[in-house]
Amino acid sequence: TVVRREDYTAPAYWIDTVELSFDLDPAKTRVLNKMRLRRNADVPAQALRLDGEDLNLARVLVNGAGCSFRMDGNQLVLESLPEGSEPFELEIFTTCAPEKNTQLMGLYVSQGTFFTQCEAEGFRRITYFLDRPDVMASYTVTLRADKKKYPVLLSNGNLVEEGELADGRHFAKWVDPHKKPCYLFALVAGELVAREQRIVSRSGTEHLLQVFVRPGDMDKTEHAMNSLIASVAWDEARFGLPLDLERFMIVATSDFNMGAMENKGLNIFNTKYVLANSATATDTDFANIESVVGHEYFHNWTGNRVTCRDWFQLSLKEGLTVFRDQEFSMDLCAEPSARAVKRIEDVRVLRTAQFPEDAGPMAHPVRPDSYVEINNFYTVTVYEKGAEVVRMMQTLVGREGFAAGMKQYFARHDGQAVTCDDFAQSMADANPASDLARLLPQFKRWYSQAGTPRLKAQGVYDSSTRSYALTLTQSCAPTPGQSVKEPFVIPVAIGLLDAQGGELPLQLAHWNQPEAGTRSFVLTQESETLTFVNLDAEPVPSILRGFSAPVVLDFDYSDAHLLTLLAHDVDPFNRWEAGQRLALRLALKAIQSEGALPAEPLDMAFIEAMRAVLRHPALDAAFKELVLTLPSETYISEQLDVVDPQRVHAVREAMREQLAQALHDDWVWAFEAHRDNGAYRPDPLSTGRRALTGMALTMLCLAARASGSPVWPGKTLQRFKDAGNMTDRFNALSALVVSGHPLASDALARFHQLFRNEALVLDKWFALQAGAPDRGGDVLPAVRRLMSHADFNLKNPNRARSVIFSYCSANPGAFHRADAAGYQFWSDCVIELDAFNPQVAARLARALDRWKKLAEPYRATAREAIARVAARTQLSNDVREVVTRSLAE
Ligand code: ARG
Ligand code: ZN
Repeated sequence: TVVRREDYTAPAYWIDTVELSFDLDPAKTRVLNKMRLRRNADVPAQALRLDGEDLNLARVLVNGAGCSFRMDGNQLVLESLPEGSEPFELEIFTTCAPEKNTQLMGLYVSQGTFFTQCEAEGFRRITYFLDRPDVMASYTVTLRADKKKYPVLLSNGNLVEEGELADGRHFAKWVDPHKKPCYLFALVAGELVAREQRIVSRSGTEHLLQVFVRPGDMDKTEHAMNSLIASVAWDEARFGLPLDLERFMIVATSDFNMGAMENKGLNIFNTKYVLANSATATDTDFANIESVVGHEYFHNWTGNRVTCRDWFQLSLKEGLTVFRDQEFSMDLCAEPSARAVKRIEDVRVLRTAQFPEDAGPMAHPVRPDSYVEINNFYTVTVYEKGAEVVRMMQTLVGREGFAAGMKQYFARHDGQAVTCDDFAQSMADANPASDLARLLPQFKRWYSQAGTPRLKAQGVYDSSTRSYALTLTQSCAPTPGQSVKEPFVIPVAIGLLDAQGGELPLQLAHWNQPEAGTRSFVLTQESETLTFVNLDAEPVPSILRGFSAPVVLDFDYSDAHLLTLLAHDVDPFNRWEAGQRLALRLALKAIQSEGALPAEPLDMAFIEAMRAVLRHPALDAAFKELVLTLPSETYISEQLDVVDPQRVHAVREAMREQLAQALHDDWVWAFEAHRDNGAYRPDPLSTGRRALTGMALTMLCLAARASGSPVWPGKTLQRFKDAGNMTDRFNALSALVVSGHPLASDALARFHQLFRNEALVLDKWFALQAGAPDRGGDVLPAVRRLMSHADFNLKNPNRARSVIFSYCSANPGAFHRADAAGYQFWSDCVIELDAFNPQVAARLARALDRWKKLAEPYRATAREAIARVAARTQLSNDVREVVTRSLAE
């Protein structure tokens, strides 16, 4: 059944207090739920309908006495409740079986420890409740369990009592001082140890920070703790938002569907985003941990103190909190160049994952209008595009205006469940003179209209008037259910360069004075022309600096323009983008050429430009690595109307090999110049040096493939053996695997032997092989072998993703096979996963989202595979919604 945003009605009852008692037992946990409710006087009197799922109901009491009730599907319906607005008591006793909970929603057991995941609708799998975010209650939670097996008992808020019970059991009682929606409830019970840190906040209050992990993992908690300390300090410094709890806990579990969860005061994390030390985690892991720890901590205000009225408003908390974690990571960068690198990485995610989503069958607005299964809407659109919408607001009101808007938002809505409109209104009202306030209704189309706008720019230079007319035209293609789009408000940051790459002063015809540097213009019409004056020659426009709006920019740059921008633009984003455009242009030309593939798709100008960047004396290693990385196969494919994935793969590989050979001596230099970085520290500078070193090794191994020389593969193997940290070790291993060198198999075996007890490292080992470049169809058989490996476990989401997703979603050249075996494998996996974990299955189901773009025979066989899944009678709502939308006309 479809849920629609327009059908929202306030709840018929409020729940003011909840007292939960758990007798924890993996096979049969008993849950006593005592609530105080009252009718909501604002809506017509009606029955109380409580949500429940996979529960055994034993008893229902109203004000201490038995009462009549009935079941309506999954709902418990109480019709004859006390009339009037007086509060009444409702007591519900249920049991559930956490050890049988394979979908990891509600209460489940992972490696002998109890965990919960309630967002979005998992609380109903713990007890009957009004499972919706606009019902906010005060929680008191008592946990009882065997003391030996479950020495640590945690829930939200403050520990107020603990003690012994008979039969070797013990208890702990927790009171959360803040009201919350039930999706923020959490409990953890098991054998855990904690790294602890006391901090004093600006206001002088003391807090206890704890990171709980399994006993063997203590040596991997320092970075998460440091990230948490930095998060607390940042939110207070940048937004004046303090920690509002005596203690703040993070707990890691190895079985988790998503990244992490912001339960009030008790964040539960996938181990992938907590555990790290230099021997087991890469620089990317360290950076991800910093941003996910920040993300969940920042939810304490944006999500928990102010939450969502309904799940259509998900981006209210997610878009805003992603924006906040992006800003946090950027603010932790000492150098401006490192901020730019972070921005480029974030945009790369948006363009390779969100733009395709916006162009495919699952396209939806940042604030969706309908869903079948809300879990399918935890998407890159709601998260990453949502963050871009918040970022545009900051652009329109300025950094200080944005902070003022946040103040206004909390002044108005603290303790409430609100909508995206409420947030935008607070921002606008706090900045009455801003473009945001002036354009608010139109700006909010970013929330209501799906699809990625295209911004077409055309420049005409007139030497007689010494002026340059830049015409900006916007459009947006139809998306499912939205055939016509109204113009968006698009902030366009622009600079002009002269032919030598110097920054020109900007002056519009009606300005008295020219201005130096980047200017942001706000496009509101379908088409507008900016006329710049006082220009002696045709300028090179640098448009959409910093990626000032989530749009596709079309501008007919000449190669010379792009080379100028790549060599000189002061805006690092557009400097990188110029290189990507040049590479993309060459890739598309080769892909679309008639007949056999050109062996050498790159031209000398491109190669020399890349050499100049690589050898540049002033640029950061991290930035160089980004520039020298070719656009991904996914990104290239998005630019084509009809995609032959094999051709795309072959062309990109040919480009990479050409770059490897043509710049051979430069890669040698890059390796030697960046290889030594002293003691490991995951800071942006040394991270960049390691990234460039790793890239150099891959390139040198690729070049060796062509020449047959054993020198660099040998050196790479040596570096793999000698590496002092996981980043260098894994990069060396990856270079051997990616280049398909015979030494790779020995190195892989050795790596497995070294890390056979480190689950997160084994995930990397699996993922590297499932994501390896295909050579004659060898990856799928390897994937099948990996799935029968003793260390493979389909039930563990991280392990399943490391093999299946790395193959189906991240390795297009290996997945799209002319014999359709990849698609057959995909449909088998979706069906098998769906039987026990619909959320993970539905994510995998999206790997074929873009099937309509495929060339034959891929298109027809992909469709068949999707239809094969859709034909199953026993499908979860999650997978059903994805495949139905995928097949829709
Ligand atoms: N709120 C969590 C976060 O953004 C994600 C929870 C997603 N859970 C889910 N069942 N879809 O960090
Ligand atoms: Zn979030």
